[in-house]
Amino acid sequence: MKQEPRVKRDHKQKGPKDRPAAGPDKAKGHHESDVSHHQGKPMGRAKADKKHVDLPALLTDKSLLRKMARKEVDDGAVTPDYSLDKDVVIGLLNESLATELVCTLRYKRHYYVANRIKGRYVAAEFAQHAIEELAHADLIAERIMQLGGTPDFNPVGLAERSHAEYFEGTDLQDMIRENLVAERIAIESYRAFAQFLGEADPTTRRMIESILAMEEEHADDLTDLMED
Ligand SMILES: [Fe+2]
Ligand SMILES: [Fe+2]
Repeated sequence: MKQEPRVKRDHKQKGPKDRPAAGPDKAKGHHESDVSHHQGKPMGRAKADKKHVDLPALLTDKSLLRKMARKEVDDGAVTPDYSLDKDVVIGLLNESLATELVCTLRYKRHYYVANRIKGRYVAAEFAQHAIEELAHADLIAERIMQLGGTPDFNPVGLAERSHAEYFEGTDLQDMIRENLVAERIAIESYRAFAQFLGEADPTTRRMIESILAMEEEHADDLTDLMED
């Protein structure tokens, strides 16, 4: 007896906008008035000495923190301590965006073909994956905007920009296998991307890791379908 396909999953992802509003001031319980009393002195040093902890300058010196935030303010969410080459990250994100779009298109085609050849259970899984790949594309496009780039939705060259391939397919097993290959390509590229981002861009890294987790789930779904 085959299981009913999942129609809807709860894959709420925390976007950058969901992060807590508390900044260093709130977190440490400091108020505006603290600045005038401690101008020129490293803030929080006494607390740090107590436990012999070396805090980063940006956490102990509010005037430095505020000065840095004002510098290159037109860069929006990208602050001067962003140590990666922003254009490289945006370029990699655009490749990931192309991958998600190609995967959406492939799953859409496979949904309709599978449905026609009475593979309705498989078709439902393809349809669900298509929805989730498109949601990934939106997350990536949003992050490209935050980094000051422009998401590339140009259909010209889409297949070349994508890591995964667009495979047409007419046979159910072929379509399942090719989708599994595409998911494995996405898994490898996202894992490498997350490692590259490391601690230098934790927001993009967390987003990529959350997408990676779902690609692994997709691969697992397809592996189950291959065994049916
Ligand atoms: Fe995806
Ligand atoms: Fe996927």
